[in-house]
Amino acid sequence: MKIFLDTANLESIKKFNDMGLLDGITTNPSLMSKEGGNPKDVMAEITKIIKGDVSLEVVSTEYSGMIEEGKRLRQYGKNVVVKVPMTPDGLKACKSLSSEGIPVNVTLVFSPNQALLAAKSGAKYVSPFIGRLDDIGQDGMHLIKEIKQIFTNYNFGTQILVASIRHPMHVVDAAKIGADVVTLPPTVLDKMLQHPLTDTGLENFLSDWKKLKAGI
Ligand code: G3P
Repeated sequence: MKIFLDTANLESIKKFNDMGLLDGITTNPSLMSKEGGNPKDVMAEITKIIKGDVSLEVVSTEYSGMIEEGKRLRQYGKNVVVKVPMTPDGLKACKSLSSEGIPVNVTLVFSPNQALLAAKSGAKYVSPFIGRLDDIGQDGMHLIKEIKQIFTNYNFGTQILVASIRHPMHVVDAAKIGADVVTLPPTVLDKMLQHPLTDTGLENFLSDWKKLKAGI
């Protein structure tokens, strides 16, 4: 399973990229806005740091604007994936950009049928938002199971990019289902690194070694 970081924060991107953990990045207008500054500089920097796919999202809501913005976003690098919303215009843009060889991530997917339609439109990725479904009392992970079954049944090449992840168990469950990608907020990736037994184990190793009063 690939791991993407769901952020526009350059410090976090560099931190986890230096550990060799990142297969890609996803951003959205809210994440860009959270970082402030000039988004053009941020997008240029992210695409320079990361070799894998970087999803950059359009803000137009109609077809021609999406195409124009998608092409401009693609100028930031060959690894740019254009993110479009799951709307009729978004799917039309998905078909058009995909057929020109520009990969597309269809975002704001909340049902198996939306995922099916995005795959039919030629999307490289579909982004089901599981945390936001959990937030309204639905089972976000069940949606991942349904999409996985549909894509397997019909051999769709579209990858399931599990988004709106809230905690490390979401990652374990997505991996058990066989999702292609999880995109993680930096806080979740930080939590995945940690275990209290690792901390106490290391403390004990170091205090036992000190007793030797020797160097390595
Ligand atoms: O990148 C889209 C998605 O991951 C957003 O998550 O936490 O705003 O629901 P969230």
